Amino acid sequence: MKVDHMTAARTFPRKRSLDGAPGKKAVVFLGGGRITGALLAGLRLAGYDKPIMVCDRNPGKLQQLRRRYSVAVDPSLPRARERARLLVIAVRPDSVRELLGQIGEAHTTRAVSLAAGIPLSKLRQWAPSHLLWARAMPSPLARFGRGLTAITFDRNFPSEARREVRSLFAKVGQVLEIPESKFDAFTVTYSSSHGYHALAALAGAGEELGLDRRTALTAAAHALADGILAWRESKITLDDLLREAATPGGIAAAALANMDKSGYNKIVHRGLRAGMLRAQRGSKARQRGK
Ligand SMILES: NC(=O)c1ccc[n+]([C@@H]2O[C@H](COP(=O)([O-])OP(=O)(O)OC[C@H]3O[C@@H](n4cnc5c(N)ncnc54)[C@H](OP(=O)(O)O)[C@@H]3O)[C@@H](O)[C@H]2O)c1
Repeated sequence: MKVDHMTAARTFPRKRSLDGAPGKKAVVFLGGGRITGALLAGLRLAGYDKPIMVCDRNPGKLQQLRRRYSVAVDPSLPRARERARLLVIAVRPDSVRELLGQIGEAHTTRAVSLAAGIPLSKLRQWAPSHLLWARAMPSPLARFGRGLTAITFDRNFPSEARREVRSLFAKVGQVLEIPESKFDAFTVTYSSSHGYHALAALAGAGEELGLDRRTALTAAAHALADGILAWRESKITLDDLLREAATPGGIAAAALANMDKSGYNKIVHRGLRAGMLRAQRGSKARQRGK
């Protein structure tokens, strides 16, 4: 089924507002950009009904989020932090340090950073010392409740707060708890862009063979999505599924063998290594700018 972002956002049934009674503690998103919008849509879809507030410096974005998801909004950081039971840092990595410098004495001690490439050690260093940290790496697919989120906790993050963080992200898809040392590798490997990229390549090749664009895209989308669904939903191993789909001596086997011979695996490895390098360079540059 094709789901349009904007339509999906507009067709939520009118439910109880997520802004809560004024003064009631809330999950407070600092930054109301793309990932916050996707998470709010996913939480809405899942029927999440606890108070949520968003703080952003762009009034237009705040009004849009308030209209679409009935969340409380406030451009004032001091007021937003007063409402927080849990802070979710959702500004771009380059803005995190500045934001944490302005955060002051929040009532809550719990914060989750979504910022790619900013380690817990930097969050601890840049933020007031009473804040305890977790990191989460969701994706825009959270919008449809189909996301995957990696999470990791600082050692002293309280266990009841861990449960809250896990259950918040579990509302919008699967949650994987991984060591912080694996976060960059996860971020590079888990990007929905890989799916779009593979879809574009496969459909483009189908078009070159004479399919019209619509048929090529439909065939390629089914090839990728149905194959992956079969792996996810069956207990059959990937090797066995591959053997079943590519009869020795057959058409699929010839196509796959040629892709492998042409360096398919090598190209994917090289791409991910470049992504890792980018993540590591970004975090080194931010550390130099301390
Ligand atoms: N997008 C994704 O798919 C994704 C997935 C996982 C994790 N993340 C992480 O999530 C974070 C946000 O990404 P995004 O794509 O949502 O970014 P984004 O669309 O640029 O949203 C960030 C928002 O925060 C606002 N902001 C920045 N500094 C602020 C401040 N001091 N006070 C108030 N608002 C402030 C920005 O305003 P201005 O535009 O005026 O700067 C912008 O509206 C990043 O750290 C990223 O690594 C993103």
